[in-house]
Amino acid sequence: MDNFLHIFFIWMHVLGVALFVGPQFFMAFAWIPASRGIDDMQVRIRAMRTITRRFGYVGGAGLVMLFVAGGYLIGDWRNFYAVSDETGFTDLRFGVVFIVKMTLLTIMLLALGIHMFILGPRQMARLEAQANGEQVSEAALRKARLQSMAFSIFGLVLALAIMVLGAMLNDVSWSLQEA
Ligand code: HEM
Repeated sequence: MDNFLHIFFIWMHVLGVALFVGPQFFMAFAWIPASRGIDDMQVRIRAMRTITRRFGYVGGAGLVMLFVAGGYLIGDWRNFYAVSDETGFTDLRFGVVFIVKMTLLTIMLLALGIHMFILGPRQMARLEAQANGEQVSEAALRKARLQSMAFSIFGLVLALAIMVLGAMLNDVSWSLQEA
């Protein structure tokens, strides 16, 4: 039963990574270049709103899966790998890597939050104002775009680094050795 649950939650964890990270590549390499080809700004903004909302649903579902599955995996690690209670959490590489992973995760969530709730909406508002004929300088638009991009790229780089740390945890012939 333990093995079945472990495999199931590893699967859910990997699916969570796919849903959370995959759409970020799609946005950067498929949607954003394609959207620049839409000359009608009203159409472009409407499409952008739909796609970013759907992107949020998929990525959000991925994040929930990561937390649920990750919560199980860390809750069960001592039992699953037969690590006795006398061994302190940070006595093994597993504990140290896990703490680094959670720290990077917190920073990634902060970067993502700033991108999703502050910089992304600001960029959209400026684009929309320009499309409605209001005075918005190219410099202001460019600044909003660059700031928003910088935070999303930073978040993606952190997600990739967190994946490396996950793979390090998973390699128990290495991670269960003394730190
Ligand atoms: C609440 C958050 C998270 C917790 C508690 C958590 C916990 C864990 C644990 C304990 C493992 C090792 C499983 C084992 O080998 O027994 C693991 C593996 C892994 N984690 Fe996470 N993790 C979390 C979030 C994330 C995030 C955000 C990512 C990537 C964006 C990620 C990517 C991975 C990968 C790629 C692996 C290796 C493959 C696997 O075992 O599934 N994790 N995680």
